Amino acid sequence: MGKFYSMENNELTKWHRAYIKNAYLELRTGKTQEQLGALDIETIDKNVLDVGCGPGNHLAALSAGKPKLLVGVDIDERFLTIGRSKIDELITPSSTFPSLICTSLPTLPFADSTFDLVTCFLVMPHVPDDKEALSELARVLKPGGMLAISGHGFGFPLRYLKRFRLKPLQMYLASLIYGCTGKKLIRNTLQSDKKICNTLKDIGLTVDVLCHNKRVLGSVSTYWIGATKVKTKRDV
Ligand SMILES: C[S@@+](CC[C@H](N)C(=O)[O-])C[C@H]1O[C@@H](n2cnc3c(N)ncnc32)[C@H](O)[C@@H]1O
Repeated sequence: MGKFYSMENNELTKWHRAYIKNAYLELRTGKTQEQLGALDIETIDKNVLDVGCGPGNHLAALSAGKPKLLVGVDIDERFLTIGRSKIDELITPSSTFPSLICTSLPTLPFADSTFDLVTCFLVMPHVPDDKEALSELARVLKPGGMLAISGHGFGFPLRYLKRFRLKPLQMYLASLIYGCTGKKLIRNTLQSDKKICNTLKDIGLTVDVLCHNKRVLGSVSTYWIGATKVKTKRDV
């Protein structure tokens, strides 16, 4: 189990409830599909994995594209339990039914080169080591397959300034510590989109799409990246 999430009790917290409400609102209003569309995500007949799937909002959207196999994994069983009932309510019989597994990055229980598409939205701020996590996502991806990730940039905490005064400070402190020591001692680290793109290139992916969904005071708040796992001579 990853370092930042503990399962001390099984209760949904206020944060879980707020997150689930907002995630399903974005699904209902079409924002989720818009974000997937911005990355040119196609799922038909593909093996698709959503890592850090939370309450399954992206799985519900991805299932409509009729993938061959659809799997969601998350470290937090509470999200998976809610996700299971929400997805069962929402998806039509003709859509692909997702399997949900409780497991955590950086160790995924899948063989190398299993998936054509791996998505990992807003999870990187919570994993202990970016390169280790991205390498694991790339490992389970087929050569030529697509990795789609999103994260928070340095403008993101500014959204909280009025409401939770300590949260932006916590995020900036976490990012400063990570920048100086390479260690994520506090959760909710921010990552520069450029640094993530460079790491992706280092581990053998090419970055095809980089979108900035929101900027706050000129700084990137949320970014989305689509990257392809390069085929080696052995794969061709
Ligand atoms: C901000 S939520 C994003 C949920 C969903 N992907 C979305 O975009 O709406 C972050 C999710 O990552 C999960 N998570 C955090 N650390 C993880 C890890 N090491 N492995 C797998 N999931 C993790 C959390 O439980 C949570 O569901």
